Amino acid sequence: MGAVEIPAGLRELLQGYTVEVLRRRPTNLVEFAVQHFTKILEGQKKDQKAKKRSAKPARKGVTFEGKSNKEEEEEEEEEDTVKSTTSKYNRRVSVCAEAYNPDEDEDDDTEPRVVHPKTDVQRRRLQDACKDILLFKTLEPEQFSEVLDGMFEVLVKPQEHIIDQGDDGDNFYVIEKGVYDIFVEKDGANVCVGKYDNKGSFGELALMYNTPRAATIVATQEGALWGLDRATFHRLIVKNNAKKRRIYEAFIECVPLLKSLELSERMRIVDVLGARAFKDGERLITQGDEADCFYIVESGEVKIMIKSKTKAGQQDNTEVEVARCSRGQYFGELALVTNKPRAASVYAVGETKCLVIDIQAFERLLGPCMDIMKRNISQYEDQLVALFGSSVDLKH
Ligand code: CMP
Ligand code: CMP
Repeated sequence: MGAVEIPAGLRELLQGYTVEVLRRRPTNLVEFAVQHFTKILEGQKKDQKAKKRSAKPARKGVTFEGKSNKEEEEEEEEEDTVKSTTSKYNRRVSVCAEAYNPDEDEDDDTEPRVVHPKTDVQRRRLQDACKDILLFKTLEPEQFSEVLDGMFEVLVKPQEHIIDQGDDGDNFYVIEKGVYDIFVEKDGANVCVGKYDNKGSFGELALMYNTPRAATIVATQEGALWGLDRATFHRLIVKNNAKKRRIYEAFIECVPLLKSLELSERMRIVDVLGARAFKDGERLITQGDEADCFYIVESGEVKIMIKSKTKAGQQDNTEVEVARCSRGQYFGELALVTNKPRAASVYAVGETKCLVIDIQAFERLLGPCMDIMKRNISQYEDQLVALFGSSVDLKH
């Protein structure tokens, strides 16, 4: 037998994979291999593209409505990413962000509609669990009804892993009851970054962006969830997000707080926000309540009211107006930043519309705006000193 020629680079490739396996200790070697080598392939493609690009003539200037060079480049990169393969469990193994353009998914509409039959009692429980889910707040009634049809009940046991970070995304979940810890891997250790307490939803990110699961979700007690499969989520929610982007893109660009974010970061906020309408005088926030979301005024106005203090420094129940917020301004961040109860009550003045972001998305997406928000907290303190005379520490 003649000498076998070892292809150039094979040894380095296999060594690299072995080192990563020993470092990360994955449970599924094959799945890990797919991810590892795909990353390398992506890197190669990017290099090739960078070479191609440097040989291309510079692009002409862009008009106001046109796409920036950066956006076009991002799109090209997205087009080149590897889409998906099938694992031995016949689940999609998405290893990187797929091009995000829900308008292209024409065949979504021809897919059979999934209906999970429910008793009247189940449907009522489901409707109740879904009534405050932000992702459903911008759906047309017909789409919302289809979402409810497609949902199925999942009963969970204590310590059950509903989602494992790094896995492929199969379902989106709405919480009916139970407490669920959120773990995110940091420097090789699983860190608990928050929890869902008997309300909320999770599992949207992997389905929206076709990425691996970004966190691990573990039930701490017996609970009940409602699942929505990936295909139905795509057909109804992801498609609706394309519409949301068109509606809110211009407005979100003008929100002063979000000016420092990249366009893609602002669009990720649009993807997860909900829109809520309030009647004149309706209370949006109650002083002393636990906080779970953040607001931006889209139209109309809100007034911020604080319970006044007696001379002895005790709270009485008379509310004093301390500020107003109108289009483009935000409120409801203080309790999320300080981890304390709501510091004031907030009421709609006239018909008012707000965009609402839940605490998990707030923490995930608004980190870069934290400095601005913290600076503004000092202004609140000054307002309160001016009103009540004594100094106030809202941060601690
Ligand atoms: P997904 O990535 O599909 O699966 C894990 C889910 O955890 C994720 O969607 C979010 O819905 C939710 N989640 C909550 N907090 C975080 C966080 N800090 N980082 C990432 N995902 C989070
Ligand atoms: P939060 O405490 O979460 O809910 C009430 C909100 O009112 C608060 O966040 C701020 O966004 C807003 N607010 C505006 N002015 C003040 C103020 N002077 N003191 C406290 N909260 C204020």
